[in-house]
Amino acid sequence: MSRPADLFSLEGRSVLLTGATAGLGRRFALTLAAAGARVAVVGRRKDLLEELCREAPGCVPVPADLAEPGNTADVVARAVSELGEIDVLVNNAAYIAGGVRAEDETPEQITMTLNVNLVSPIRMTQELFPAWKARGAGVVVNVTSIVARAGIARFPQATYAASKGGLESISREWAAQWARHGIRINCLVPGFFESEMTSEVIHHEKVQSWILGNTLIPRHGQVQDFDGALLYLAGDASAYVTGQTLVVDGGWTAH
Ligand SMILES: NC(=O)c1ccc[n+]([C@@H]2O[C@H](COP(=O)([O-])OP(=O)(O)OC[C@H]3O[C@@H](n4cnc5c(N)ncnc54)[C@H](OP(=O)(O)O)[C@@H]3O)[C@@H](O)[C@H]2O)c1
Repeated sequence: MSRPADLFSLEGRSVLLTGATAGLGRRFALTLAAAGARVAVVGRRKDLLEELCREAPGCVPVPADLAEPGNTADVVARAVSELGEIDVLVNNAAYIAGGVRAEDETPEQITMTLNVNLVSPIRMTQELFPAWKARGAGVVVNVTSIVARAGIARFPQATYAASKGGLESISREWAAQWARHGIRINCLVPGFFESEMTSEVIHHEKVQSWILGNTLIPRHGQVQDFDGALLYLAGDASAYVTGQTLVVDGGWTAH
């Protein structure tokens, strides 16, 4: 029998991770590297990617703008040329038109949200599919949000919610179509935590007490709260799990 810790090891694996310059993605890069993976880290801010790679020598920078889904083929090609075959894709990058009411979202904001949060993850996964089908293995972790399943008017974010719901739906469909090829797809579903995305709203006293008042575990989420869920979904511990969502929200959606 293997040691339980081995189930969470990513020794020798290659990971392609988007949205690694900040927030959860930066933490994910450090966690994946600490678990033994080599990680191709994607984001627009090249300086932050390089700083991250100095901190975590297992990481290599792949700067790119995912608002343009046509860039995904190049992103995957650069990651493969740096790391060889990719074992795990983590679609984490996201854009939100923060604080804009549904009726006021502009066509540009709608397009940007869908491109970064839904179309690029679809294209990235499609780019990796042929190699994964040929070798009979591949893992996708899609980072979605509790807003895929609950309307939250206090943070107006209609198209963002649609993008995350879309990513959850396509994850189930991919799982159904591709399980026969040894490809697993699951979603990691965060609740609220502080990051660039939420920095403008999360410090307001009313918002703080509203989040805490609705969270069963009486504290705010922090990026390190997602380490275990990420390693579980990315590695062998979840070998018989596909098409599922793993919610990490302190119990926010449990009542
Ligand atoms: N914070 C929350 O409370 C919360 C709640 C539920 C779900 N989530 C989800 O958790 C994930 C991480 O969120 P976060 O709060 O950590 O976000 P964040 O701090 O705002 O970071 C977003 C990341 O996405 C990248 N990104 C944004 N637009 C991009 C583009 N056009 N091209 C390439 N990369 C782009 C950013 O890099 P560059 O700016 O360098 O490009 C950055 O690395 C997201 O999927 C988010 O939807 C967050």
